[in-house]
Amino acid sequence: MRVNPGLEGVIVADTEISYIDGQSGILIYRGYEAKQLALHRSYEEVVYLLWKGRFPDSAELDAFNQALWENQRLTEELKQIIKLIPPDVDMMSVIRAALSSLGDRSFGWPPSLEKAVSLLAITPAIIAARYRHLQGKPIVEPIPNLSFAANYLLMIHGKKPHPAHIRALESYFTLAAEHGLNASTFTARVVASTEADLSSAIIAALGALKGPLHGGAPSEVEGMLEQIGSLEEAEKWMRERLRQGEKLMGFGHRIYKTTDPRAEALRQVVQTGSGAEPWFQFAVEVEKIALALLKEVKPHRQIHTNVEYYTAAILKAIQLPKLLYTPTFAVTRIAGWIAHILEQAKNNRIIRPTSNYIGSMD
Ligand code: ACO
Repeated sequence: MRVNPGLEGVIVADTEISYIDGQSGILIYRGYEAKQLALHRSYEEVVYLLWKGRFPDSAELDAFNQALWENQRLTEELKQIIKLIPPDVDMMSVIRAALSSLGDRSFGWPPSLEKAVSLLAITPAIIAARYRHLQGKPIVEPIPNLSFAANYLLMIHGKKPHPAHIRALESYFTLAAEHGLNASTFTARVVASTEADLSSAIIAALGALKGPLHGGAPSEVEGMLEQIGSLEEAEKWMRERLRQGEKLMGFGHRIYKTTDPRAEALRQVVQTGSGAEPWFQFAVEVEKIALALLKEVKPHRQIHTNVEYYTAAILKAIQLPKLLYTPTFAVTRIAGWIAHILEQAKNNRIIRPTSNYIGSMD
């Protein structure tokens, strides 16, 4: 019996949702290059494409936008729950708790698009409400006719966001929405395969996304850049970390053995859209030093920049606080999880792999 630690190379599903070519740095959603979608389509259109396999016509898009907006309003009960959770509880746990409080009454098997819309819509509202509560500020309601990304920024900051910030966040949302059978998406499919309700699958996936090796990386990247402090210190700082056997955050990927196409697209978006701010230039320079170092220290490994590196740059550029980085990743990745849950439900078989017993037979 051959064991594949980390399930590397093990194929457990056919999918029509996305395709990744890690050698060439290509990411495709349902036949469209994700990079092009990020530059030319709205996030809402991309979610619709992921879920339904085609773009919406204009009436369908209007209805979808309306449904997203309607489902973004929190009940008084949910607002109370969000406020009652102790202030030192991290945001990912708050999302899990708030979604759990909804129970399974409206999310039971089989998963449907209506249920999916309500879960996708309510999550940013939960995050924003909790953030505002922690700041001692009133909760801000979403506005109709604002995009999903714009309403997220509005609910967080309490003022209409800058168009360049909306565009940058939308691009990030699109590029991070889906990425094959990563740890959290696999988790969502495993839970869905037991015919558990949609919210249970999403809550489980949130747990998987929370770890620093998956969705926790962007805030670690920003922390790393802050600790490096200056370009003069960069090489020394990173060399020392590598000498101690630590990893450089925002580099390396299980699949990509070249630059992550999402990192490239985000670099382009920030450079053209939000203006080149000094912090961003610093990130670009540190990236060059890091890549040269990784080549020197790990010559046999193909370690390149991953999406989290430029996610940190873009989230800082749009003035999101660090505590919202992983939750914001969760907001968009829910779209991918749901696409996979819907696909799993179409031809379901419970996911149940095997382990190789190596313990005592006494
Ligand atoms: N810095 C230094 N060395 C690295 C890095 C890194 N960022 N990434 C991989 N390596 C090295 C490892 O030390 C190992 O070398 P060794 O065998 O000589 O000891 C080799 O490359 C293989 O590394 P693994 O961790 O086995 O690769 P794996 O495919 O399991 O891990 C992972 C991928 C977890 C992303 C890893 O590269 C990492 O921890 N990166 C830093 C955290 C990060 O940026 N996470 C975000 C990932 S993107 C996302 O989740 C959306």
